[in-house]
Amino acid sequence: MNLVAPNLVAPITRQYTPPYDVEAFRRDFPILATPVHGRAFLDSAASAQKPVQVIDAVRRCYEAEYANIHRGVYELSALATRNFEAARETVRGFINAAHSSEIIFVRGGTEGVNLVAASYGAKFVGEGDEIIVTYLEHHSNIVPWQLLAERVGAKLRVVPIDDRGDLIMEEYEKLLNPRTKMVAVTHASNALGTIPPVKQIIDMAHAHGAHVLVDGAQGAAHLKVDVQAMDCDFYVFSGHKVYGPSGMGALYGKKALLEVMPPWQGGGDMIESVTFEKTTYAPLPNKFEAGTPHISGASGMAAAIDYVTKIGLDNIAAHETALLAEATARVKEIPGVRIFGEARHKAAILSFLIDGTHPHDVGTIFDHEGVAVRAGHHCAQPVMDRFEIPGTVRASFALYNTMSDVDALIDAIGKVKEIFN
Ligand code: ALA
Repeated sequence: MNLVAPNLVAPITRQYTPPYDVEAFRRDFPILATPVHGRAFLDSAASAQKPVQVIDAVRRCYEAEYANIHRGVYELSALATRNFEAARETVRGFINAAHSSEIIFVRGGTEGVNLVAASYGAKFVGEGDEIIVTYLEHHSNIVPWQLLAERVGAKLRVVPIDDRGDLIMEEYEKLLNPRTKMVAVTHASNALGTIPPVKQIIDMAHAHGAHVLVDGAQGAAHLKVDVQAMDCDFYVFSGHKVYGPSGMGALYGKKALLEVMPPWQGGGDMIESVTFEKTTYAPLPNKFEAGTPHISGASGMAAAIDYVTKIGLDNIAAHETALLAEATARVKEIPGVRIFGEARHKAAILSFLIDGTHPHDVGTIFDHEGVAVRAGHHCAQPVMDRFEIPGTVRASFALYNTMSDVDALIDAIGKVKEIFN
């Protein structure tokens, strides 16, 4: 691969052979071929683009396999139900859950956390109890716990981070105590890329009798997930960040916990029988799936999981890591650019600021240069407060990005510097 480009800073990686044929897989993503969308899409941490396999699965569902599920006595409904449950089995395999009944379909990671905070909270968290979150969390893994804490009189405790963006594990240890009921931690930070030592965090929490929810919104598309090996009690992720449809996601919960947790939303499909005197609930997973779900979304998410599985998450991670290493090294060579988040283990997220500029201005100039990034606080305001900054410019890499996209990023930084100087 020829990496020589007319950039502000010359490419550092002279030789790079991706672990899979990136150009071939790029062709699966119709949107990447549309010039109006620019030169480099570097905002997959916000939402990933969709391969034709996912688009086809959604179209096939509506064109030939669509009816409501779990309700119809006719063949089309039975087919839709089989596809929906097959998608559940695909998710189970993807994260290596022991039972498909431990997979609850939700609208996304956010809804998964809200479900657990409400239902687990109602059963297990009371006045004086404590919930631990970390400085790295996205608002979706802070606010639901805050709402719970306010409702029941519990307390939110926060694990601090160091200047590199790593969790300070000694401080975490100090926060754990017999009142700790839940530890909610990200699998990978969306703002800094930090991958915390989740296994260690889980083991330490369990030693204190606390349960753990892992927010996999930024993890599932980049890191191999094995919920049994991890031994987390809950894991959530969103379909749209794994190249699947938006409005679709999954919550994993250990069966023993889900079984004793009360239903969250009431409605059709989550009941066994209803009378005005008493309602009994359906077994797992239906107990937590009130109403008609995102039927085509399940097919699309399953197709997305098949797609990334075909490439191999290890291959995807290796490629993204190479892109991150290249981008990091070249950005570091540029005077006046400060990187935020240099944790020991990092997902392919590069957050930075250019001296004398606001991230929103940078994002706008980047857009003119055909480079799509996210600029702002990334729904992780505590991280920004920790570094006393209003926000960052965030480039995030996905399976379809290339070293040319890194070139485009470096060129765009050059343009910003040219304009502001
Ligand atoms: N949580 C998404 C992000 O990090 C939207 O951009």
